[in-house]
Amino acid sequence: MDNQVIIFDTTLRDGEQALNASLSVHEKLQIAQAIERLGVDIMEVGFPVSSPGDFESVQQIAKTVKNSRVCALARAVEADIKACADALKPADQFRIHTFISTSDVHVQQKLKREFSDVEAMAINAVKYARRFTDDVEFSCEDAGRTPIDNLCRMVESAIKAGATTVNIPDTVGYTLPFEFEGIITQLFNRVPNIDQAVISVHCHNDLGLAVANSMAAVQAGARQIECTMNGIGERAGNCSLEEVAMIMKTREALLGVKTNINHQEIARTSKLVSQLCNMPVQLNKAIVGGNAFSHSSGIHQDGMLKASNTYEIMTPESVGIAKTKLNLTSRSGRHVIKHRMESLGYNESDYELEALYADFLALADKKGQVFDDDLEALLFNIKQQDNEDFYRTECLNVQCGGEFSTASIKLVAGDEQTIESATGNGPVDALYRAIKKAVDIDFDIADFKIGNKGEGEDGLGQTDIVVSWQGRKFHGYGLDTDVIEASGQALIHALNSIHRAITISELKKEALVENQESKI
Ligand code: KIV
Ligand code: ZN
Repeated sequence: MDNQVIIFDTTLRDGEQALNASLSVHEKLQIAQAIERLGVDIMEVGFPVSSPGDFESVQQIAKTVKNSRVCALARAVEADIKACADALKPADQFRIHTFISTSDVHVQQKLKREFSDVEAMAINAVKYARRFTDDVEFSCEDAGRTPIDNLCRMVESAIKAGATTVNIPDTVGYTLPFEFEGIITQLFNRVPNIDQAVISVHCHNDLGLAVANSMAAVQAGARQIECTMNGIGERAGNCSLEEVAMIMKTREALLGVKTNINHQEIARTSKLVSQLCNMPVQLNKAIVGGNAFSHSSGIHQDGMLKASNTYEIMTPESVGIAKTKLNLTSRSGRHVIKHRMESLGYNESDYELEALYADFLALADKKGQVFDDDLEALLFNIKQQDNEDFYRTECLNVQCGGEFSTASIKLVAGDEQTIESATGNGPVDALYRAIKKAVDIDFDIADFKIGNKGEGEDGLGQTDIVVSWQGRKFHGYGLDTDVIEASGQALIHALNSIHRAITISELKKEALVENQESKI
């Protein structure tokens, strides 16, 4: 059997669908490019029929990503599959992933159908998807709880209809590793045409077993793992990409399988996903947690000083965590910044040196020493500021202390400038009231957090907010030495995402009207 395990990343589909606030097209593109650099074989980037925004982001990613195959999701219905084909068209090669439930509980309670109807729908969907591409994946949703005879029957029918990958999801994270391994083994033993497709697994983490179940399935012959960066996803999340990738690297001799992942990209991709998705990574998370490579007890520290393999089974460098730290100050030149960025794993093409250097100098003037985390934070911040941003702050002024705070803001909206001021029960409240007066959007703040990015008291203030508008939620963040400034940036960031969403839906409406008029 082939010893290559295909890594199918679904951060931008299963991961994204579980976020409190959806990502903008621009943010999804940033994540897709990082995931491409990570070396995933396939990335599932959305569910195009679900919204115009999802369609647009799948289309943009299909245009941009070249080194990973791009895939989109469809229920087993023709309209969904057609939307995938349309959105994915710009890609050189693409995959359509269609699915339907197969467990008794889903077939009877959710779909309210007979198993044979569901089987017919699956066959039809796979055949229809094959009209657009020869790379079609079919998933048996809730396979982990599907009676094995029905699962074998469905897998055989899907392959016969033309599925080139068949995915066995443990949708509700219910199975145990030996049980899941048994399901995959039975499929290999009982489905006559199984050698005509790649068998994939997609495990959720409700019992904390997503990674263990995925690895057990690989032992039984599965050759594709569906996973997400930092394990984000529905409820307790999905199988974590960085964990399965490092298991297969660290224990390659025992397992005899490998992946195409560029392991040194792991830390950086993890930070980007955590930042843009507003999903902090727990300190003790395997591979990417802040404590994953720190040693606290005296005995462990002593061992580490004598030989690092006493307490480390992999090095931090192997996942892209740089050890060396240069002191960066306002006296550091461009070449030092370039060199530091290189050792953090960034190529020159990943950023604009002049823009980064200008922001670096401004920050160094404010806080003296600039750390690696700060540098990366500046990079995220530059990338977050789209040149086409509709709202821009020209100047803001906040006074606090006493009974209430006051804020005034000069805001540019498109090519119009507005000046507003307001009072509030604190500086951020006053600032947000002033911004609310200056924009045309009726929003509410659904969540607001201020934290520290970087090292101790030298870190930067980071504000993360979730803004709700017309039932949808938008995440915004800002970084600055001044938390009030960071809070202003965070709100403007979210408002720009809302403005983009409004523009996309207006464009879609216009296109629909034009389409209808041309038919009349
Ligand atoms: O968890 C699941 O079953 C899914 C399918 C759509 C593959 O996400
Ligand atoms: Zn899932």
